[in-house]
Amino acid sequence: MIRLDKLLCEMGAGSRSEVKAMLKKGRVTVDGRPVLSGDRKVPEQGATVCLDGQPLTYAGTVYYVLHKPAGVVTAVKDAREKTVMDLMRDAPGKDLFPAGRLDKDTEGLLLITNDGGLAHRLLSPKKHVEKTYLAHTALPVTEEMCRLLEAGVDIGDEKPALPARARKLADREDGLLLTVVEGRFHQVKRMLKAVGNEVLYLKRISMGPLELGDLPCGSWRPLSEQEKRALGIEE
Ligand code: URA
Repeated sequence: MIRLDKLLCEMGAGSRSEVKAMLKKGRVTVDGRPVLSGDRKVPEQGATVCLDGQPLTYAGTVYYVLHKPAGVVTAVKDAREKTVMDLMRDAPGKDLFPAGRLDKDTEGLLLITNDGGLAHRLLSPKKHVEKTYLAHTALPVTEEMCRLLEAGVDIGDEKPALPARARKLADREDGLLLTVVEGRFHQVKRMLKAVGNEVLYLKRISMGPLELGDLPCGSWRPLSEQEKRALGIEE
C-alpha cells in the first residue's frame, strides 16, 4: 500500500503541492469514489485512480537534471545526512536514483532518473562520457599543470588517469575547466593533487550532452526532448 499523494506524484499528476490542491478540490477518485486527503493508503497496483475522470497510469521512465548543492550527499537514503533525493520529492516518477555521484562538497549537474539502462550506458568506464568541472584551487593554475593533466597523471591507482582537457580560466588565476572521461573516486581532486595543487571548490557543469546552464542551485528540471534524443533515449 502507498499514500495516495505519493502515488499521484509517481504517476506524474503533479508536484506534492499541486496534488494536494487537486485532492482538496475533489478532482481525484479511487475506484470511482472521490478522495480528498492524500494520506489515504491505496494499493500500488490494481486501484483505478482518476484525475478529472481520466484514469492515470505510471509516469514510466523519467529524466531530470539536478543542480546539486554542496553539503548534500549523493545517495537515495541516508540515516543522518540530507540526500539529493530529498531535493527531488516533488519530481514525478517512481524509484528515482542519481546516475553517477558527486562528493558531498561538490556541486553541479547530476542526472536523476529511474532508467537503469541509461545510467549504465552513461557510467560505463568504456563509454568515456565527457564530464566538465569548474575548479578553484589553492595555488594558481600553471601551463605546466595543464600540460601534465592533459598527458594523463598518476593518481595512485593501478593505471594513470586518462588524458583530460585542461583550460585555465581567463578571469582568475586559481581556476580551471577540466574535462575528464572517467568517473573515478575523487578523480578531479586527486588529479589536481598529483600536479601539486589542491581543489578548494568544485562544480560539474556538463556531462555528455547535458549542461547545467543557469539552473539555480538546489533546483531540478526535466530533460528536454532534444537532450533525450542526444542521449539516445527512445520513447
Ligand atoms: N571529482 C572529484 O574529485 N569529486 C567529484 O565530486 C567529482 C569529480
